[in-house]
Amino acid sequence: MKKKETHSTFYEYASLKELGDKQQELIQKAIDAASSAYAPYSQFYVGAAVMLENGTIIQGSNQENSAFPSGLCAERTAAFYANSQYPDTPIVALAVVARKDGKIVEKPVPPCGSCLQALLESEKRHQTTIEVILYGSSVIHRAANIEQFLPFGFTSLDLGGS
Ligand code: THU
Repeated sequence: MKKKETHSTFYEYASLKELGDKQQELIQKAIDAASSAYAPYSQFYVGAAVMLENGTIIQGSNQENSAFPSGLCAERTAAFYANSQYPDTPIVALAVVARKDGKIVEKPVPPCGSCLQALLESEKRHQTTIEVILYGSSVIHRAANIEQFLPFGFTSLDLGGS
């Protein structure tokens, strides 16, 4: 038996000012997007913004449903819209923000496993990486790519493809 390990790298920031202009803009778009969330069941309002390689920013928010599994997270709403409107333009960055009880949550929320899997597909499809910025009012986390959150993501290689 061999023990094998994997590790993730992410960066922590205490304030928006530590980030670049484009990153700050993307966070602001994610904050704005949370206002369009439809979250009557969880009251958890999530906003996501993705930046494309050409600088275009696409926003998304969670869209819930009385049949709970029929809803969709903010990240996939944004990413699927981006990939359907701009199929040849890679997503290069994603910002995520959540609001609860009228306030942005203090601790950043990560994309769920299904969103990570969808974002991984978007990376592989375009052979690029997606920078991930998770905004909380007391701390901000940033990672260089989806693999930092999903080291064992399923890809076409696992299907025996290339
Ligand atoms: N949600 C997101 O939109 N993104 C996340 O990263 C985590 C969870 C949504 C799904 C559901 O509408 C609500 O937040 C509570 O889980």
